[in-house]
Amino acid sequence: MLDLTIKTERLALRPFRPHDGPAVEKFAGDWDVARMTTKIPHPYPAGAGQAWIAAHAAARRDGSNYPFAVTCENELVGCVGLNNLERGSWGQRVPDDRTTVELGYWIGRPFWGRGFATEARAAAIEFAFDWLGKTHLVAGCFKDNACSRRVLEKHGFAVDGSRMLRSAAQGRDVECTLMAPLTRDAWAAKKV
Ligand SMILES: CC(C)(COP(=O)(O)OP(=O)(O)OC[C@H]1O[C@@H](n2cnc3c(N)ncnc32)[C@H](O)[C@@H]1OP(=O)(O)O)[C@@H](O)C(=O)NCCC(=O)NCCS
Repeated sequence: MLDLTIKTERLALRPFRPHDGPAVEKFAGDWDVARMTTKIPHPYPAGAGQAWIAAHAAARRDGSNYPFAVTCENELVGCVGLNNLERGSWGQRVPDDRTTVELGYWIGRPFWGRGFATEARAAAIEFAFDWLGKTHLVAGCFKDNACSRRVLEKHGFAVDGSRMLRSAAQGRDVECTLMAPLTRDAWAAKKV
């Protein structure tokens, strides 16, 4: 399971490899990607992509984080990851920390608007429920991230409140929209 590749209609979700480092730096280093996340720094330091990737194997082994490279025709187009709540960004209250994971994602700007986030996230949600045996998923987005919110709502997530959280890239606290924990039933009802 640690090296699992998930295939969807157009995409393959696979573990990151060292050679993905420069593409990670290019896409995550884009201001319009970094500024919508809590943790991605801006500017993105040279070499930080490879260092980030080098930490993945241990994170998968200890179950704290399952990051997937989202690829289309063997080209890296983005990232979708499942974090345990200690590594998470949004800090919602959940029924049980152990059976809940947080969904995080970005798509490189050249690939926006093609439905890749929708397709990759659907696969990651299924992985969380079917392979990791989780019962709930949480997610959130900055209040001005209408695009991310739209994709979350397409997958059955419902708004559950808001809070201020730090954006590393913006260097300030930003208002966030928090999503209530998504259950398998709510996901199945909305499946896209
Ligand atoms: C958010 C993000 C992942 C979306 O990726 P994407 O592959 O372009 O998304 P998709 O094409 O699957 O879907 C986008 C949906 O949002 C809709 N959308 C786009 N811009 C929108 C806007 N300003 N307001 C509302 N909906 C919008 C699209 O119409 C589409 O919905 P539809 O399929 O019903 O038409 C991408 O823009 C990104 O990486 N942004 C920066 C990082 C980020 O925000 N990460 C998430 C942190 S919470």
